Amino acid sequence: MSYAAFRSIGAYVPEKILSNEDLSTMVDTSDEWITKRTGIKERHIAAETEFTSDMGVKAAELAIERSGVAKKDIDMVVCATISPDYFCMPSTATIMSTKLGLNNVTAFDISAACTGFVYILSIAKAFIESGMKKNVLIIGAEKLSAITDYTDRGTCILFGDGAGAAMICATDKKEEAIIDVHTGADGEYADLLMTPNGGSGSAHDAKVDDALKQEANSCFMQMKGNETFKVAVRTLTKDVVEILNENKIQSDEIKHFVPHQANYRIIKAVGDALKLKEEQVVLTVAKYGNTSGASIPMAINDIYESGRLQKGELMLLDAFGGGLTWGSALVPFSPNK
Ligand code: ACO
Repeated sequence: MSYAAFRSIGAYVPEKILSNEDLSTMVDTSDEWITKRTGIKERHIAAETEFTSDMGVKAAELAIERSGVAKKDIDMVVCATISPDYFCMPSTATIMSTKLGLNNVTAFDISAACTGFVYILSIAKAFIESGMKKNVLIIGAEKLSAITDYTDRGTCILFGDGAGAAMICATDKKEEAIIDVHTGADGEYADLLMTPNGGSGSAHDAKVDDALKQEANSCFMQMKGNETFKVAVRTLTKDVVEILNENKIQSDEIKHFVPHQANYRIIKAVGDALKLKEEQVVLTVAKYGNTSGASIPMAINDIYESGRLQKGELMLLDAFGGGLTWGSALVPFSPNK
């Protein structure tokens, strides 16, 4: 049987920085409020002509190079995004495959919001373990600035742009294998976090507030932040406890806890509930904000590039997002060298 190994990581952030001070000139907010409630200090914003696929390609080039896998041997590309280059089609994964020069691949996008990277990790693992694919490139890429309402202080302070990518490859060494991936969803909470307009049913959906239907052309994100916060803490903690128990792994065996970077207070609450030490918890929310499907691979890239992530170390990934969706994963870092 083939196992799936997490071989490499890469990430990209656009140049332009939008600080809390900048936002306080745009909406009624302050650096103090944003820092205290979210831990975010700044976020990166893509240029108008820089698309989600452009950012994903830059992250992917790094991941491919660091994996040592030849482009001709990559057989699948999966992208997690809620801000694709185009609505419906073509998928951002197909666009990126061509930009990367990968001409003989299966390519598709998935929509699981901030849990997207954990979902595509589970897909890569399943395809590899079944023997259908050998080298799967997974990419979380987001241009959230394109779907953010910069007059809504409840959401515009949270989101940023960026991309992260990883190569997941077949191996016969069990010690290199991704141990487990959990994914879940509950549509009962769909209205907590949504882009209410632009879809086939939204204008007639009783769940969408009448006020939002007025903005017929807007595909902006809407969020019931406070309710989302509470469900996030509950769900993230429960999921992590389950994956650790099922795999008989103690929290002190985790070298790097890499949660979705939505809000420092959410991460702190989950870390405390799991009795994790400060040095185990990876935090990038201050400099990138919430980059949805890109946030976990961007955070992994940060610890990789700063030399904190070493071969064989165990990562625990944990995510939560619109849908609602959630997921967690136990992943040893298994580069070739
Ligand atoms: N600046 C100043 N005041 C603000 C701002 C702001 N930017 N935003 C809201 N407020 C005000 C509100 O109007 C409210 O005022 P009131 O008391 O006079 O009514 C007060 O601050 C408190 O508002 P809350 O919404 O209760 O603030 P909260 O502490 O919950 O923080 C936040 C809001 C940061 C959005 C938080 O709820 C949060 O992080 N939620 C979870 C986000 C998340 O995890 N999303 C899931 C992933 S995202 C994805 O899937 C794409």
